[in-house]
Amino acid sequence: MVFKSHIRPVWPAVVVSWILMCCLPYAALAADMGNCLLCHKYPGLSRIDKEGGMRLLYVNEEIFNKSVHAKVKCEGCHTDIKKIPHDPAKKVDCLTECHILEPSTEQKFSHKDVKTYLDQSVHSTIDKDGKEKKFPEDMPTCKDCHDNPLYRPLAFVKKVRAGVAEESLGRCRVCHKKEEFIFRFYNHITTRLHKSRSPLNIAQSCGRCHDDQELVARHNLSTRAMYSYGETFHGKAANLLDERVPDCLDCHVVKGKSVHQMYSNDDVRSSTHPTNRGQICNTVDCHPQASPKLGSYNVHAEFSLKQSPAEYYFTVFFIILTGGTLLPLMGIMFLDMLRRLFPNATITGRKK
Ligand code: HEC
Ligand code: HEC
Ligand code: HEC
Ligand code: HEC
Ligand code: HEC
Ligand code: HEC
Repeated sequence: MVFKSHIRPVWPAVVVSWILMCCLPYAALAADMGNCLLCHKYPGLSRIDKEGGMRLLYVNEEIFNKSVHAKVKCEGCHTDIKKIPHDPAKKVDCLTECHILEPSTEQKFSHKDVKTYLDQSVHSTIDKDGKEKKFPEDMPTCKDCHDNPLYRPLAFVKKVRAGVAEESLGRCRVCHKKEEFIFRFYNHITTRLHKSRSPLNIAQSCGRCHDDQELVARHNLSTRAMYSYGETFHGKAANLLDERVPDCLDCHVVKGKSVHQMYSNDDVRSSTHPTNRGQICNTVDCHPQASPKLGSYNVHAEFSLKQSPAEYYFTVFFIILTGGTLLPLMGIMFLDMLRRLFPNATITGRKK
């Protein structure tokens, strides 16, 4: 699958933000790594696989310690590795049960619920009638969307989301005395009060499929969902790394539901279903005063005569207006330039 989104990262800004992120002090709690890093800490640890591609088996400890899974032991996910040196490892199952108990139910923790949500969503491999959809291999799995869950330090989002700052840690110390407890739970909660990815990042991860022209054609989806988002003000600001603008999830997920619960437009459970669209825009942090009518705004306008005639004629009008003004102007300038370069030239070549 080739990623060729209309929305491209703004490289200089990305580089600067990376440098900044690396300079910011962070303090993650290192997992008890077993002895895995004894070998896997070497950047050269790699091999050529059966298809001839290079597989990097190096694990960067610093990045791992900043990830959401920093506290999970390697063997917690790579459950089949029991002895060292080890046999070839199996693929990791994201639904593996943990040894941790989820405190509100005291049941063993796992991500099984996410799979349930996903199985009921438009990204399920099964359709409404319980039959397998065509091209089930095109549907996203956990690892398709969660390939880069880098942890963003609190300081990074402080500017964007009020109330999320390390200074607030002092508010927990008044009653809780153990530093480790405070830090762990403060991070646990506050990192969930904001998105862990920027709008650009989210759009790019959806674009891996929704901008893949062959894939969308196979599924009768809009071929320009990504392009049209990039053409709106929201998409343009996202491209400039603005964190406040809505990304795909802000519009395609009903408020308060899991991001994995996305449905087709003609499903009444969908946020973009005509009966629910009025609720999308007027959230506290977007357009609080907006009337439900704003939701009828055509986000994914294709500028085609069939889908959106008004936008189509508007575009055509402006192309003619711009061309009609600029071309004669450039023509006049060109003739003027000729006259200046060859003050004595005439069309017939006769001399005075
Ligand atoms: C003694 C060194 C050593 C230690 C310790 C070690 N590994 Fe490995 N690991 C390797 C080597 C070498 C490979 C490449 C094996 C190959 O290509 O056949 C590898 C490959 C892997 C792979 C990819 C395997 C595959 O077949 O695709 C995983 C996953 C892995 N190790 C996880 C772990 C985990 C988890 C631990 C700790 C419990 C661990 N390793 C400890 C040396 C080690
Ligand atoms: C949250 C679960 C999780 C934890 C914790 C985890 N891994 Fe992995 N690891 C994965 C997944 C998922 C993959 C992707 C391959 C797959 O699907 O099995 C992977 C792949 C790997 C690979 C192979 C890379 C390749 O190209 O196939 C190695 C080596 C590896 N992990 C080592 C480690 C080591 C060492 C640790 C501990 C520091 C660790 N992992 C902790 C989930 C985990
Ligand atoms: C279509 C893409 C997609 C698929 C498929 C997907 N996720 Fe997610 N997931 C996301 C996005 C996007 C977020 C929110 C990231 C953020 O906050 O910035 C998320 C968030 C999460 C969270 C954090 C809690 C939450 O809901 O915000 C967990 C846990 C999670 N996913 C697990 C899974 C597991 C397990 C699977 C496979 C069963 C899976 N995801 C499949 C896109 C996906
Ligand atoms: C005014 C005192 C006070 C402040 C300030 C306070 N807590 Fe608490 N916290 C408590 C008390 C008392 C309990 C036990 C409540 C109960 O069991 O009903 C508790 C329980 C908790 C628990 C649940 C522990 C468990 O195992 O059930 C967590 C997590 C927690 N606090 C985190 C925090 C964090 C993070 C902060 C700072 C943002 C904070 N608290 C600020 C008094 C406070
Ligand atoms: C691995 C590929 C893949 C990824 C990644 C992916 N999708 Fe999809 N998406 C699909 C496929 C395939 C369908 C068509 C499902 C069908 O035919 O029932 C679909 C359908 C949809 C639909 C329903 C369109 C309609 O009205 O019928 C929406 C909305 C959607 N995706 C949004 C998203 C968003 C938002 C993201 C990013 C968080 C995303 N998708 C990531 C493959 C993907
Ligand atoms: C500002 C809100 C908003 C944003 C942001 C947004 N969408 Fe949509 N999207 C909608 C609405 C409303 C519809 C239904 C009406 C329509 O088709 O225009 C829709 C329809 C769709 C469809 C179905 C089109 C079809 O094939 O019939 C897909 C797929 C889709 N969006 C994907 C995305 C992706 C991927 C992103 C992020 C790059 C995104 N959307 C961003 C509001 C939004």
